[in-house]
Amino acid sequence: MSGGRVPVTLITGASGEIGQALLRRLAQRPGDPIVTVDLRPLSTGALKRPHREHFQGDILDAALWERLLRQYRPALIFHLAAILSTHAESVPVLAHRVNADGAARLLAMAADLATPDEPVRFVFPSSIAVYGLPSQEAKEAAAPVSEDEHLDPATLYGAQKLYVERLGATVERLGGGLDFRAVRLPGLISSDTLPQGGTSDWAPELIHAAARGEPYSCFVNPGARLPFCAMPDAVGGVLSLAFREKASLTRTAYNLGGPSLSAAEIIARVARDFPDLEVRFQLDRGRDRIVASWPAAVDHTAARRDFGFAPEHDEETLFSRYLIPGIRRRYQG
Ligand code: NAD
Ligand code: SER
Repeated sequence: MSGGRVPVTLITGASGEIGQALLRRLAQRPGDPIVTVDLRPLSTGALKRPHREHFQGDILDAALWERLLRQYRPALIFHLAAILSTHAESVPVLAHRVNADGAARLLAMAADLATPDEPVRFVFPSSIAVYGLPSQEAKEAAAPVSEDEHLDPATLYGAQKLYVERLGATVERLGGGLDFRAVRLPGLISSDTLPQGGTSDWAPELIHAAARGEPYSCFVNPGARLPFCAMPDAVGGVLSLAFREKASLTRTAYNLGGPSLSAAEIIARVARDFPDLEVRFQLDRGRDRIVASWPAAVDHTAARRDFGFAPEHDEETLFSRYLIPGIRRRYQG
């Protein structure tokens, strides 16, 4: 107990794609009980480590935090709740409130709880959206992008992520005991869940459509290229960063990378296992432009060196060992 309150690990956005995967993995490790927050209900299934309580509500609701803090003292926070890129661009005011104000409030709460003797660790999933490449030529020439290059986001979402990274680093430097760490995630692909409202969604959507035997309407051009990462590799990277001693870390925000794949390459690879795959291109210019501004590949040397990030899947095993078998199991029994 800490000041009469139970020390916990807090996950916001726990009902989302990453949240569900993170919760399952985190629950296999020893540690404080877990408390979650999300607008949506949580389905916990069988978790080994105690999941104390789910607070269903808005991270912007001060009363929710009052209730939570009456009982619990978060010592480790994974702040995942956010509105993803494509959706964020269509609801700019709300996206600012959730992605920027919501994160800032949570950082302030963590800073208030933290002391130099009892630090609070805050782990933040940032994004390749913090980068902005002005043209296709620049995008090709820049790959793989390392952490201090091209920090000129083309979207509100990217600007919000970069703001939170910098705010977290600044509050940490004040020295009150906040320990802030961030990963910049690429497009994630899970065999179990489907994304909503992101811009890299075409890849997971088309793979899942192929397994369901449905045609897919692709909203980016065939040459659109991004780095992708299997969900277990990304969650493994987040956890490695979260539990690494501070002395090993040389940066605030780290790229987590994975295979660099174009829409055409993904279609060709998926068609080897699902030959009936039918894709037509129906360009969404807004989303295509966002992809054009994001890096084709990122350099994750710093993450490998500082906390041992080593994705298990390359461009072949991402499909052959992870996605295709997992997705077949999901849809075909
Ligand atoms: P997701 O949309 O599946 O999950 C986000 C969760 O946040 C949802 O369950 C949603 O209900 C919740 N949420 C949104 N607004 C909220 C609010 N006001 N109060 C409480 N809960 C709220 O997204 P995800 O893929 O799991 O992403 C998690 C985090 O990782 C986000 O911060 C996202 O920006 C970041 N990220 C994701 C990717 C990716 O490819 N999935 C890549 C880069 C960064
Ligand atoms: N994959 C995420 C998105 O498309 C990047 O943050 O929104």
